[in-house]
Amino acid sequence: MVSILITAGPTREYFDDVRFLSNASSGRMGCALAEAAMAAGHQATLVLGPVEMTPPAGVKIVSVTSALQMQTAAKDVFATSDVLIAAAAVSDWRPAERQSGKPARQPGNVHVEFVPNPDIVAGLAANKGSRVVFGFALESVSAGMSAAIERGKRKIIAKQLDAVVVNLHDTIGSDEAEFVLCHADGREQRLARSGKRRAADYLVNAAVELWQSRNPAGEAPQEIHPET
Ligand code: C5P
Repeated sequence: MVSILITAGPTREYFDDVRFLSNASSGRMGCALAEAAMAAGHQATLVLGPVEMTPPAGVKIVSVTSALQMQTAAKDVFATSDVLIAAAAVSDWRPAERQSGKPARQPGNVHVEFVPNPDIVAGLAANKGSRVVFGFALESVSAGMSAAIERGKRKIIAKQLDAVVVNLHDTIGSDEAEFVLCHADGREQRLARSGKRRAADYLVNAAVELWQSRNPAGEAPQEIHPET
């Protein structure tokens, strides 16, 4: 049995107590990954941003709202995980300041300063040891698949991933997935458009296979304290 951490869903970055910056991630891919992990006999923990859907029964859920909360929760669970699949659509920025209450609307334009959020998967992968870390690269449809693959491959290096799931942004919020799984060793595996659960089975299997090849005796992961 392998311990699989999945980050999923969007994050919300509040300007004040009511308004926030977020995105359209439904959390479906992450929930499908958790379901697939359990169906294959593994242990799954979902660090999950705010979503409408009900996560699969039996999965350990750590609910978070913001990217900073997701980072803290993921770091904590990663210490005792074998595999991380980072499916979360983490907001790239958060407002520099959060006001309290609901400040009244004022006439004219509003300028909000955003600061970058930490890259959660990169921070964890930097100290992964023998763990396996997969990320996602959701690229603009207009870029086309081959440019998307090139960008995805750059993410493997920049974030020290073992593989990246490259897909186009029309899959966000959809029931289906179509992707190319690019491995750090240069292999590319294409999955034709299919249900997210089938795609999830494929990804869990690929990540577990890699973990098993790296940990033939199935040793427990060493404790780590990633600097993020
Ligand atoms: O750089 P980009 O946002 O395209 O990278 C996507 C991958 O990185 C996904 O696996 C996503 O979950 C992860 N990510 C993260 N923290 C961020 C931004 C992205 O873990 N702040």
